[in-house]
Amino acid sequence: RVEASGRHDLAGVHVVVTAGGTREPLDPVRFLGNRSSGRQGVAIADAARARGAEVTLIAANLEIPEPVGCEIRRVSTALELQQAVTDAAQGADVVVMAAAVADYRAAGVSETKIKKDASDSGLTLELVRNPDVLAGLGHAPHDGMLLVGFAAETEPDDERLLDLGRAKREAKGADLLVVNRVGWTEGFATDENRVVVIGRSGEIVTRAHGTKRSVADDILDVVVLELATAAA
Ligand code: CTP
Ligand code: CA
Repeated sequence: RVEASGRHDLAGVHVVVTAGGTREPLDPVRFLGNRSSGRQGVAIADAARARGAEVTLIAANLEIPEPVGCEIRRVSTALELQQAVTDAAQGADVVVMAAAVADYRAAGVSETKIKKDASDSGLTLELVRNPDVLAGLGHAPHDGMLLVGFAAETEPDDERLLDLGRAKREAKGADLLVVNRVGWTEGFATDENRVVVIGRSGEIVTRAHGTKRSVADDILDVVVLELATAAA
């Protein structure tokens, strides 16, 4: 394998990466969020830039510093992320959906802080579905654009985990799907990751583990191969 410093194999390629986790407001002071720090997505953006790509990073509430040399578009909610990705994907060669996008948002956002009532014993929130950004891109014609999705799963069984990834790739129309096991102690806030990349026939294209940066480079190796195959 070639050293990262010597590679310039994404020169002239426009890569859009989403990273982080969306936040869905409930009222002016509260939101529904998730534990995604943005580390894996930022590592992909950074690695792609180092390999010569023109990178647009759609950054959703990153808990880590933004990478240098990338065009950054900051978003917070799933709807904002959808708008930013739809814009950035125009003319992009690769879209990598590493962000954890909220599946639901509040049916209505309160203009004022939601107050407790002395007599209540609980609170029921009404949520509505957010659009599936990846599936939206995957189901629209996207000739010449490689679409890479992620799957965050807590399934402990390896074979069942892969099957969940295969089903997600199929359902969303992604070209590649990166299966990532997450849990109370796995996936988030660490600098290490372990993933399996699934291809169009449900086959395992590669397995990668190590730092999020090295996993990013392994995923980009697959992207480079796919772009070369598509161009041939
Ligand atoms: N995703 C998206 N829009 C959403 C939800 C997810 O684009 N509203 C994308 C994520 O960025 C990721 C992929 O879809 O690339 C899979 O996300 P994940 O949460 O693992 O899967 P879901 O399809 O949302 O299924 P579930 O959460 O029910 O497992
Ligand atoms: Ca989800």
